[in-house]
Amino acid sequence: MLFRCSIFITKKDYNVFMKKIITTLALLTIYNTTIAQDNTRELVKLPPMMQNHMMANMRDHLAAINEIQLYLADEKMDEAAQVAENRLGMSSMDSHKAKHMSQFMPKEMAAIGTSMHRAASRFALKAEEGDLLPAYKALAQVTSACVACHSKYKIANIK
Ligand code: HEC
Repeated sequence: MLFRCSIFITKKDYNVFMKKIITTLALLTIYNTTIAQDNTRELVKLPPMMQNHMMANMRDHLAAINEIQLYLADEKMDEAAQVAENRLGMSSMDSHKAKHMSQFMPKEMAAIGTSMHRAASRFALKAEEGDLLPAYKALAQVTSACVACHSKYKIANIK
């Protein structure tokens, strides 16, 4: 490399130095991409009470995904299915007031929400069949719905 000066630094030092530069550049790129994406997300305004409720739901969604992963790791398929159906699936829609909240969302956002509930119920059925790999595949469809919505929408004035 052009800038390598063998008198002052060893090859090992140079390699470490280059690795640091490359890592920094990679992190900067990821950071910039995240910011760029943020500007393209659509801002959704919800009444404050509803916003709090939705964010509480969200935190429970993440906790539920985590519990499902832990159960899958122990091959406890029925338990994984139950968490999915009760906390994320079609059965959870009433307790999450999903219908009520979806009225305040853009149509496509509500549709992604519904697709997440459906995917979670499909996962529950797959998990009950007892095979890990198809269950993981079905779980990935649930998390894909999380990602799809998060990359498209943000909520106003999150505190
Ligand atoms: C229909 C859209 C939608 C779906 C589906 C969705 N989310 Fe969210 N979620 C949001 C929005 C919008 C926010 C607020 C993000 C922002 O304003 O930056 C959010 C925020 C969150 C937060 C932060 C909560 C807080 O207290 O700040 C977590 C955690 C989260 N979501 C997890 C999940 C997980 C896990 C899933 C899937 C199982 C999921 N979400 C599915 C729309 C969605």
